[in-house]
Amino acid sequence: MFELLYRAGSRMYDPLTAVFFGPAWHNWRRTALPWVGPDRTLEIACGTGQLLPELASRASFVAGFDRSQSMLNPARRRSTRDSIAVLQADAKSIPFRDGSFDTVVSTFPASFISSRSVLDEVARVLSPGGRFVVVVSARFTRFQWKRPFIHPILRLAYGSASSMNRWPEDLLSHPEMPGEWRDLETPEGEAFVWVAVKR
Ligand SMILES: C[S@@+](CC[C@H](N)C(=O)[O-])C[C@H]1O[C@@H](n2cnc3c(N)ncnc32)[C@H](O)[C@@H]1O
Repeated sequence: MFELLYRAGSRMYDPLTAVFFGPAWHNWRRTALPWVGPDRTLEIACGTGQLLPELASRASFVAGFDRSQSMLNPARRRSTRDSIAVLQADAKSIPFRDGSFDTVVSTFPASFISSRSVLDEVARVLSPGGRFVVVVSARFTRFQWKRPFIHPILRLAYGSASSMNRWPEDLLSHPEMPGEWRDLETPEGEAFVWVAVKR
């Protein structure tokens, strides 16, 4: 079902997140913005590309990639500015040179982001002092009644139901990118965000 969701792409993904999360999903994504810019930003697993225009308003160049071609179709339609590039790629092999970006962002990326091969790739493409910002999960602190309905959807989106929780302390740590967790409030709840800086 997890793989099917991303093959069906935006036909299912955007409507599902809109119905179950309303504006909360995008407000949680947006918690990454304060660390973005001013030069080159990479979004890993950009999905349907809803965050790309806002990243581009803070950075001179933005690249967004995703493994799923279907998710990328609407991302391309949303990315009309010349300063945004959208491409199909796997996070295990990021198609950019060493030190290409001053920010790498990912929102709700599922567990692939914590694999050592992906973290090594992020460390490689970040320039020294660059930020790695991951909105890993979030939860409603208002509208608690929605939670029993939302868990099956999260299981579908992530392949697990654990996404409303913080991830284990050291899951995204990497020797070249020391980081810390931030709990950031939004109008609907809070987002759990990993912020790391490349040495
Ligand atoms: C839950 S969606 C999040 C999409 C978007 N960032 C958002 O905030 O809505 C997870 C995304 O990760 C992508 N993905 C999964 N594994 C990947 C990998 N190894 N490399 C790149 N993208 C991947 C999926 O295709 C999907 O678009």
